[in-house]
Amino acid sequence: MRNLRPTGAAAALVACAAIAAVAANPSAPAHSASGSAAAEASVPANQPLRTLGALDNLRIGTAVNTDALASDAPYAQLVGQQFSTVTPENVMKWQVVEPTQGTYDWTAADTLVAYAPAHGQLVRGHTLVWHNQLPTWLTDGVANGTIDAAQLRDLLHKHITDEVTHFKGKIWQWDVVNEAFNDDGTPRQDIFTQLLGPDYIADAFRWAHQADPHALLFYNDYNIEGPGAKSDAVLALVTKLRSEGVPINGVGIQGHLGTQYGFWGADAVAANMARFTALGLDTAITEADVRSELPMDNPKTQAQAEGYSTLLQGCLLTRRCISFTVWGFSDKYQWVPGVFSGQGSAAIYDENFAPKPAYTAMQVDLATAASSRGEDEQ
Ligand code: XIL
Repeated sequence: MRNLRPTGAAAALVACAAIAAVAANPSAPAHSASGSAAAEASVPANQPLRTLGALDNLRIGTAVNTDALASDAPYAQLVGQQFSTVTPENVMKWQVVEPTQGTYDWTAADTLVAYAPAHGQLVRGHTLVWHNQLPTWLTDGVANGTIDAAQLRDLLHKHITDEVTHFKGKIWQWDVVNEAFNDDGTPRQDIFTQLLGPDYIADAFRWAHQADPHALLFYNDYNIEGPGAKSDAVLALVTKLRSEGVPINGVGIQGHLGTQYGFWGADAVAANMARFTALGLDTAITEADVRSELPMDNPKTQAQAEGYSTLLQGCLLTRRCISFTVWGFSDKYQWVPGVFSGQGSAAIYDENFAPKPAYTAMQVDLATAASSRGEDEQ
């Protein structure tokens, strides 16, 4: 059961939404025939993810490939139908928005930022500071010494200020700093750490907050779903940031899993998230996917469904876990095969947009959480 239960008017709204959803879905089982209050409160699972998520006060999101959104009608239809938040998969990254120093190109990102409110969606901004997908002029300049530490700091300040200002008022959550740690919890030795030292992280959050005081500002990383050296390092970082009054609102847990590795249980995910909640921070699953070594078989497909479930249930168990985003919803446009050799099939829909057991597992988890909330309120 989810702690973020609505009360009063909000609860009434949710109840109405549930009734409307059932009314709109004549194939839903007629639980009310049983006459039991708990049964009347149960929620049919065969509804879009965003509809079910709304019953749990949870936004369900996807990373969006903006080329596919423009050119592939079945893809675009599912983006609008299934998701209540969107993340640009690539088009807000520094490499894309400033390909030539001083010349911005916001075209693709602007398109998605306009698409979202027209479809009742919020936007996760991704990502302001990351060691990957940096413009060549920047990495070359640092490598050949024409960009020194003071200049890099000024360039980073300008990049964050200009990008957050450009989208001011239109971004729900920003991934301000992405992947600053190695798996053993040591700071990643990227150009920012090497030239600016560890304080660039606090500066990045301050600069983003100055540019858009209402956006929720997140630290985002992978392999921090459960306990371990890396999530301990992130916890130490955000504890320090909070104690220094740095404007950080949340921790994004990417959630790139693989069936060959196994997963933390939902209880461990929730316990780990609770460490961040205790600091007054929101949490979110920001990039869920569960890859496998190919070819697929039934046990891997089943394990994949379990992987998505552990992340989603961990989030549903956590007060202030405010969104659950999958990193691409269809294998037709999923990033895994291009990066992890011999692996794939990581998304909740296949390449023909047929939903997999992982999709159904998410529906069932969301409906179960909404149904048990109803029982709790009897
Ligand atoms: C990935 C995209 O999905 C790919 O299309 C791109 O080639 C590389 O980046 N962690 C992140 C994301 O924070 O931005 C990455 O996205 C996946 C890993």
